[in-house]
Amino acid sequence: MALLLLLLLLLLLLLCLAAPAAAAAESEPSSRPPATALFVLGDSTVSCAATTLPINLTAPSLSTGPCLFPSTRRPLPDLLAAKMRLPSPPLVSTLNGTAAAVSKGVNFGGGGQYGVGGVFRVGAAVGQQVRVAAETLQLMQLEMAAEDSAAAAVFVLSFGADAYARLLARGPPAAAAVAAPKHGRRGLGRILADRIVRSVSELYEAGVRRVAVMGVAPLGCAPRVMWEGMRVQVMNSYNNGGSGSGSRSSSCVEEANELIQGYNARVAAGLDDLRARLPDADIVFCDVYKGVMEIISTPTRYGFEEAREACCGLGPFRASMGCFSKEMACRSPERHVWWDLYSPTEAVDALVANWSWSMSPGSQLSICSPMALHQLAGSSSA
Ligand SMILES: *[C@@H]1O[C@H](CO)[C@@H](O)[C@H](O)[C@H]1NC(C)=O
Ligand SMILES: *[C@@H]1O[C@H](CO)[C@@H](O)[C@H](O)[C@H]1NC(C)=O
Ligand SMILES: *[C@@H]1O[C@H](CO)[C@@H](O)[C@H](O)[C@H]1NC(C)=O
Repeated sequence: MALLLLLLLLLLLLLCLAAPAAAAAESEPSSRPPATALFVLGDSTVSCAATTLPINLTAPSLSTGPCLFPSTRRPLPDLLAAKMRLPSPPLVSTLNGTAAAVSKGVNFGGGGQYGVGGVFRVGAAVGQQVRVAAETLQLMQLEMAAEDSAAAAVFVLSFGADAYARLLARGPPAAAAVAAPKHGRRGLGRILADRIVRSVSELYEAGVRRVAVMGVAPLGCAPRVMWEGMRVQVMNSYNNGGSGSGSRSSSCVEEANELIQGYNARVAAGLDDLRARLPDADIVFCDVYKGVMEIISTPTRYGFEEAREACCGLGPFRASMGCFSKEMACRSPERHVWWDLYSPTEAVDALVANWSWSMSPGSQLSICSPMALHQLAGSSSA
């Protein structure tokens, strides 16, 4: 009898202990209040501009703002905004300076306002966008008396792809010197990665508490880099007196991918350090490289037929000449991994957005850590 009573008591105790734990686990994804705005900082990866050729090293940016073909590509910020049930963040260049216009978010990237020196002065580009973002938050706090608007917003940073596109472009020696002034190719990655990490702490100082940083995709597999890699191969075999088979290599340019992985790893490590120093902030890294590589290695699993050739462009890999008219585009962009020289198609962006957003049961990949973006945004994962 006493034993039975003891067992009952034990059971009761277990139930009491288990109940709050279970409740906490269930409410975990919504432990953050739903984000009220989406602010985006970045390069051409956050706009739908096509990459143009010849790459103009002194042009303000690869991303010149408005879409070349508005219907063909919906950039990542718009895909994420839709998941957060927020309007697509308007480009900063279209704003009218009122707090009302910025209250649901802004896309500070894709405005092509990097100033002379272009994306190679990436540090300046990042710094400028961070400054404008901080001013925007101040405006919101002053005009709308929204003290916590910075903390209630999600910030997404996506830099690096344009810098690597230019770094990897083979051109005249002078162009290469502009590409990697004195630091060399690896040095540029270190500088850029450290700048991105520093910008997250600058945003923190401006009151921001939820940040996601997107890594750079495997541009060593991008049509333009593949095409240039193939040309180098042909030239080398010619110079070596080889038969110059010139067979189109089907593998990605490893050296380029190693550079990019080095950059991504340094960003991720820097964010780990920052997370330890800023415990009241949620800082997420999303491994876009991993996601896009998964698609490139098993394209058919995700409904793609063409993982090498661009959809829009001319020549081998459709990458000797970039995309500049609608007529150049392929018929089914959704079957292509790459839209143009360096940009993935919207179909790829949509998968990356889904994998960043949540890990639903099944074969879905999870690419953001330490949490998925739906948790960062305080949304349900659906
Ligand atoms: C490159 O961009 C700069 C700045 O926008 C412009 O002045 C120059 O004419 C461009 N060069 C070419 C070759 O398009
Ligand atoms: C500024 O833009 C917002 C949102 O688009 C709009 O509601 C507001 O009326 C505009 N204000 C002015 C002064 O143009
Ligand atoms: C992404 O997720 C949404 C919502 O779960 C789904 O409707 C859509 O088909 C997914 N897109 C891709 C490309 O898997």
